[in-house]
Amino acid sequence: MNRINFIFTVIFIVTSAVRIDVYAQEDQCFICHDVLGDKPSELFKNDIHLKMKISCSACHGGNSKSDDMDIAMSSKEGFIGVPKGNDISERCIACHSNEEKMKAYGSNLPANQHELIKNSVHWKTSITGREHILQCTTCHNAHGILKVNNPASPVHSLNIPQTCAKCHSDAVYMRLYNPSLPVDQLQKYRTSGHGILNSKRDSKAADCADCHGSHEIRTAGDIKSKVYPTNIPKTCAACHSNAEYMGGYKIPIDQYDKFKSSVHGIALFEKNDLSAPVCNSCHGNHGATPPGVESISKVCGTCHVLNAELFSGSPHKKAFDEKNYPECETCHKNHDIVTATNALLGVSDEAVCSQCHSESENVKGFKSAAEMRSLIDSLDQAVILAKELINEAEQKGMEISEAKFRLRDAQQAKLEARTMVHSFSLDKFKEIVEGKGLLVTSSVIDEAKASIDDYYFRRYGLLISILIISLLALALYLYVKKIERKNTG
Ligand code: HEC
Ligand code: HEC
Ligand code: HEC
Ligand code: HEC
Ligand code: HEC
Ligand code: HEC
Ligand code: HEC
Ligand code: HEC
Ligand code: HEC
Ligand code: HEC
Ligand code: HEC
Repeated sequence: MNRINFIFTVIFIVTSAVRIDVYAQEDQCFICHDVLGDKPSELFKNDIHLKMKISCSACHGGNSKSDDMDIAMSSKEGFIGVPKGNDISERCIACHSNEEKMKAYGSNLPANQHELIKNSVHWKTSITGREHILQCTTCHNAHGILKVNNPASPVHSLNIPQTCAKCHSDAVYMRLYNPSLPVDQLQKYRTSGHGILNSKRDSKAADCADCHGSHEIRTAGDIKSKVYPTNIPKTCAACHSNAEYMGGYKIPIDQYDKFKSSVHGIALFEKNDLSAPVCNSCHGNHGATPPGVESISKVCGTCHVLNAELFSGSPHKKAFDEKNYPECETCHKNHDIVTATNALLGVSDEAVCSQCHSESENVKGFKSAAEMRSLIDSLDQAVILAKELINEAEQKGMEISEAKFRLRDAQQAKLEARTMVHSFSLDKFKEIVEGKGLLVTSSVIDEAKASIDDYYFRRYGLLISILIISLLALALYLYVKKIERKNTG
């Protein structure tokens, strides 16, 4: 018996009375190490694996039936000491990827964690070249592993942000792998609605893993990532469209349904247009708003720059600020934004202007709204007329391509006018509709009409000349006949 063994045996005997009587009498590894009072065995007391009667030897090897440490921890008995690098995960995978083994423990847990994590950005080789960036124990710990729904588990919603931030807030570490990756996720997350609730121990608000996944975390640009633009709406909707889950909160659960049929949702889902905004374009990824956007009411202007600029210089800017109306949502809404049409403009019931302008309220704007609508309507009608006339002229074989080309300027003016609405200035609007649109359109109309007149002129002109020639020919014929008759007569 060597010295350590001797000392140990003494301690063993002395403390055996006060040792907690764990059922795992047969697990000599635990019994002996518990006496040693080392940290692993201390932590192991709360470990789910201990509760499942799983021995220290499941991960370390050795003979858990022997109370002789030389035998128990001999390499002949398969003892591997402290597992390192990928060996660590190999130990976990040996059970957790083996469905039959898990069933034998009476467990119904999925046995797919390894399958999933193999696809993740985290399973690539670390800069040492020897192991993966992280192991199962990086997120779950090695000893004292708890069920994931235990509030003390490092992967419980309340602790996840810290667990991920161990690396993701460590600039020096992260630079080794991806220098361009920001390291501010936790810091920003704490400012968001989700993060604030999470700090207040509300585990229902989204944490890092709710948006990114747990085992199958992929880079944001990966088309299979939970945060790829086309997948984001579903990721958010998993909670926000779930009536039961959101039951305790006082917010609507219609964002996804509305977004899907909005002009932005159609652009994204049907036209595969990745420049269309998705949930996080407007709400931000981690912070309360996207970077550089002071409040969500300013978010539309990050893409619709001109509309936002015009709005800022318009009389509505001050009026809306005073009443705290959001800039764009007031007229366009937020999740169910539809294609804008002339119907929005004017003083009819469907026009947005009539929400605030009437013959008795904000009267100046009322008059302007009515006039703006009638201007844009007359441009529309003029363009229709111009097109009809051009068609007619072309069918008659007249050369009118130059005027047809110029009609594009009128279409362009119409587009500009739709944007210029946002200056909410009758003069500026008029300048485009009359000064550009109607001016071009009326010149095109004139030209098309002239071309059609020309056609008729040429057609009648030909008829007359044929008639004259025919008459002349007849006269000539009669004259020749007359001479012939004279000669024979
Ligand atoms: C009779 C007591 C006793 C038994 C039984 C025992 N150990 Fe140990 N173990 C020790 C002592 C003492 C040490 C060395 C002290 C130290 O390093 O903390 C040790 C060290 C270890 C280490 C650390 C080795 C290293 O390289 O740092 C591991 C891992 C370990 N034991 C696991 C086990 C496992 C698994 C079993 C069961 C198969 C087991 N022990 C059974 C007493 C025991
Ligand atoms: C689920 C697998 C697993 C089980 C079960 C397990 N260990 Fe470990 N143990 C590890 C891993 C992995 C390490 C490597 C260090 C790390 O990652 O923290 C380790 C490290 C150790 C060390 C080295 C010192 C340290 O703290 O890092 C000792 C000692 C140890 N374990 C003892 C035990 C004892 C005693 C038991 C049973 C009471 C036990 N282990 C049960 C996985 C396990
Ligand atoms: C990046 C951190 C991370 C790593 C690495 C990780 N897990 Fe997890 N794991 C989690 C999170 C987060 C959950 C909770 C998932 C949830 O609540 O939906 C979880 C849940 C689990 C569960 C409960 C069942 C389930 O699938 O939800 C098991 C078992 C598990 N992990 C095993 C493993 C194993 C085995 C490995 C290594 C192959 C591993 N984990 C690696 C974060 C991680
Ligand atoms: C000997 C087989 C075995 C080994 C090795 C093993 N586990 Fe487990 N693990 C289990 C069983 C069985 C359960 C309990 C399952 C249940 O409650 O349904 C479990 C539970 C868990 C849970 C809790 C899941 C939950 O229900 O929320 C986590 C997390 C976990 N293990 C992670 C690990 C990690 C990490 C390793 C490696 C360091 C590991 N396991 C090694 C068999 C094993
Ligand atoms: C052990 C350190 C570590 C832990 C813990 C960790 N990560 Fe990572 N993670 C990294 C490294 C390193 C990369 C960069 C890999 C690369 O790009 O080469 C990365 C990449 C990512 C990416 C991809 C970023 C991109 O778009 O390129 C996401 C998303 C991510 N991690 C989320 C998480 C989440 C969520 C958690 C917690 C559940 C977590 N990580 C835990 C180290 C870690
Ligand atoms: C509400 C959902 C959500 C939560 C919660 C969340 N993320 Fe993200 N995360 C995203 C989105 C969306 C992106 C960006 C996708 C893109 O760039 O298109 C992203 C990007 C990332 C990236 C890539 C680099 C970057 O910053 O753009 C990392 C790393 C990352 N997240 C880690 C984390 C960590 C760590 C946490 C927890 C502290 C977390 N995320 C919480 C949704 C979320
Ligand atoms: C895990 C579930 C979950 C996921 C996933 C989730 N959220 Fe949330 N979210 C919540 C809960 C719970 C609240 C709190 C509601 C409240 O404050 O009344 C919330 C609050 C919000 C709020 C603030 C509402 C308010 O006015 O206070 C916004 C905005 C939001 N989430 C957007 C998103 C977006 C965008 C995504 C996807 C990138 C997302 N959420 C993903 C659960 C989730
Ligand atoms: C075009 C920008 C935009 C997009 C895309 C968008 N939102 Fe919003 N969202 C807003 C605005 C603006 C508000 C109102 C905020 C305010 O007034 O405080 C809002 C409000 C919310 C709220 C608070 C409750 C409510 O309904 O008023 C939640 C939750 C929310 N959005 C979730 C989502 C989710 C989930 C998606 C994706 C399916 C999404 N949003 C897409 C702009 C957007
Ligand atoms: C990430 C960029 C982006 C953001 C942010 C954004 N949009 Fe858009 N929006 C687009 C794109 C791209 C289209 C074109 C979709 C299509 O027609 O294919 C569009 C279309 C529109 C249309 C229809 C235009 C038309 O021709 O009728 C309106 C109205 C609109 N957005 C209003 C808003 C409002 C209001 C907000 C803020 C709540 C907003 N958008 C935020 C990119 C954005
Ligand atoms: C007071 C009501 C009102 C407000 C506020 C408003 N709009 Fe509009 N918007 C309209 C009307 C009316 C039209 C349609 C004009 C037409 O088609 O005749 C329109 C059309 C549009 C279009 C399609 C035309 C184009 O420019 O491509 C976009 C995009 C748009 N708005 C974005 C915005 C944004 C972004 C904001 C906030 C900066 C905003 N709107 C604020 C009333 C408003
Ligand atoms: C949410 C309420 C609201 C909506 C909707 C709204 N306005 Fe206004 N508007 C105001 C207020 C308030 C003023 C400032 C009071 C005033 O000058 O009459 C104003 C002023 C104006 C002015 C400046 C009048 C002046 O003093 O020269 C014009 C032009 C105008 N609005 C046009 C429109 C048009 C066109 C629409 C529809 C596309 C519209 N407004 C929709 C509230 C609104």
